[in-house]
Amino acid sequence: MPDSCDPHVSYRRDGALLILHINRPEKKNALTQTMYRALTAGILHGEENPEVRVIILHGAGECFSSGNDINDFVAQVNPGSEPASVGFMKALLQARKPLVAAVNGPAIGIGVTMLLHCDLVYAGRDAYLQMPFTRLGLCPEAGSSFLAPMLMGHQRAAELLLLGDRISSEVACQYGLVNAVLDNDAVLAHTLERAQALAALPAEAVQTTKHLLKRSQLSLVDEAMRLELVNFARLLGTEEAQSTLQAFLSR
Ligand code: COA
Repeated sequence: MPDSCDPHVSYRRDGALLILHINRPEKKNALTQTMYRALTAGILHGEENPEVRVIILHGAGECFSSGNDINDFVAQVNPGSEPASVGFMKALLQARKPLVAAVNGPAIGIGVTMLLHCDLVYAGRDAYLQMPFTRLGLCPEAGSSFLAPMLMGHQRAAELLLLGDRISSEVACQYGLVNAVLDNDAVLAHTLERAQALAALPAEAVQTTKHLLKRSQLSLVDEAMRLELVNFARLLGTEEAQSTLQAFLSR
């Protein structure tokens, strides 16, 4: 097992499961560029290692992830080069092995958009989901402008992506974003149990089935991601976005 390149992301093996643990609870598991790199390396390790059959995403503490670290948005890191977050989005999109998420608490921004790439998502009763991009002067990312309306219909996606409304895990379950809602302290155990069931099935059959399920969307999600990235970078440079983001940091 390789070492993680960031202390806030750790890897753990449990038989055929690879658990990628986001561990920055003091910042509500906000994701920095090195954390994205560590998560990407974890997914690639899982993909390449034949002993790994299922990859699990989990957040430490009471939050799944509060999304991209807003300090990085303000610093506008990586001008002109591909941000590490993009490598992470691509790794999610291209994963052949099943991705399963244990959403132990609130998921915001990319904390939600990464779930749209997962095959199974289990959430705690007190978890909520929010994609507040427009509220921050930004636009969707990670293919969510395509995946969200495909999954839940345009009007519901518009409430989440245009208005930036927050939804409970129960509503997310009704919308098809979440497989099941559990007591908060039961989320990880239930997720591991479902992942074990998946890992016990013939791996080639599981991966082929995942490919067949996702096949028709691949190029469309890829195209959506490209368009989103161009627009996201443009909006991030606007006065409006920068002042909204700065306001969060100087609360
Ligand atoms: N980027 C950077 N820092 C973040 C962060 C983020 N996305 N989310 C939380 N933090 C930091 C806070 O600044 C705070 O730092 P401090 O203790 O040094 O002041 C710490 O994490 C705890 O957050 P706090 O806001 O005090 O906790 P809370 O329980 O009141 O609220 C959230 C939790 C997640 C609702 C709130 O932090 C939030 O709205 N975060 C921003 C979410 C967001 O807009 N993400 C970007 C999406 S594109």
